[in-house]
Amino acid sequence: MNVARIISDKRDGQTLSNEQLAFLIDGYTNKSIPDYQMAAFAMAVYFQGMTTDETTTLTQCMIDSGERLNWPGQKPSADKHSTGGIGDKVSISLAPLLACCDVEVPMISGRGLGITGGTLDKLESIEGYRCDLTSDEFRSIVNWNGCSIAGANAGIAPADKRLYALRDVTGTVPSIPLIVASILSKKVAEGIDALVLDVKWGSGAFMKTLDRARDLAKELVHVGSRLGVKTTAMITDMNQPLGRMIGNAVEINESVDILKGEGPADVTELTLQLCGKLLVQTGVESSIASAVARLQETIDSGAALERLAQMVNSHGGDLNAGRHRGRAHDVFSNESGHVNRIHNDRLGLAVIEMGGGRKKLGDQLDHSVGIECLARLGDSIESSQPIARVFCDNDATAAYATELVAASFVIGPATQPPNLIAETID
Ligand code: URA
Repeated sequence: MNVARIISDKRDGQTLSNEQLAFLIDGYTNKSIPDYQMAAFAMAVYFQGMTTDETTTLTQCMIDSGERLNWPGQKPSADKHSTGGIGDKVSISLAPLLACCDVEVPMISGRGLGITGGTLDKLESIEGYRCDLTSDEFRSIVNWNGCSIAGANAGIAPADKRLYALRDVTGTVPSIPLIVASILSKKVAEGIDALVLDVKWGSGAFMKTLDRARDLAKELVHVGSRLGVKTTAMITDMNQPLGRMIGNAVEINESVDILKGEGPADVTELTLQLCGKLLVQTGVESSIASAVARLQETIDSGAALERLAQMVNSHGGDLNAGRHRGRAHDVFSNESGHVNRIHNDRLGLAVIEMGGGRKKLGDQLDHSVGIECLARLGDSIESSQPIARVFCDNDATAAYATELVAASFVIGPATQPPNLIAETID
């Protein structure tokens, strides 16, 4: 088979056969197909899209590029995945919460992509935390602790590992078929029974409009269900940060607050709703209301926080060890009015500028930098009131980040913030 022909067929809007897709993914995995041809293919898909049949086959081929885990125990297994956002730290508290409710959570997570933060980068702000587990280590932590959050090792969907990094630097991230195949190849390879997808829309998400997010959510649910996993999606707001903190160490601290029952209302609510959905999907609870009540008990008793600390321990880290936070610099509003709009993507960029995210492959992160958002959409603001706080030890970098953060908040007439959960797609 000829790779150039596969690329040009897709470029010209043709539907690819199962054989063509299998040939392409096999060749990319065994490195007989180089990055430049795969980049051209990704760009062709970006412009021409794929049918649901093609996306399902592409996902299956990416799953087949590696191993598929299984969980033979009595407990159901489940996971959630977010399409990425600013301040989205839900996974870190969701995994131990579900583990406390007798659901196993073998969570394979990613690093920052574009302007969005990554769960693995956040967890690595805990000194000693190892994300790069072998499949055997991953299995034994899940079996012992009920949950583990790790990176995809060489054995899990290796085709996605390479393609994900390639898309990040070739402008091909916001393509629905490529996002679906990327997310679901890792999630289905985890061998889970149920999956909930948190599909973000808004200024800090890859999907800028609710309509695009709905298209992505429907395709994810469709393809996930076809591949044998009970899949649902929630479309949630990313027009302002989730919670108050954006960064790495500061987001771990906020995750601990959530499990102490002291977290910000929005991120706590979303965490409970996503967990609740999975408890119902796995048949552990019969309604979201009873699920949320059970989850709240695990927070109130301290069991969920204890479970997170145990998970961190089994990954080589210590949740109770101090995490350095950069020096605080207040960001002031120079106008009075209401927070009318937040350029959430600029907040993500400010964290990257301070070294909390990557500008190129392999960049080392500064886990101590971050932003605390003191104002939310619709809040009334006085001129000279602090609207945010930047954490950074380097004063020159902090000054630049402060400008970016100030420019992210648009002060104007009063506005109603979008609903936190816009829609659920079953
Ligand atoms: N998360 C992923 O794992 N892949 C994408 O393409 C986007 C978000």
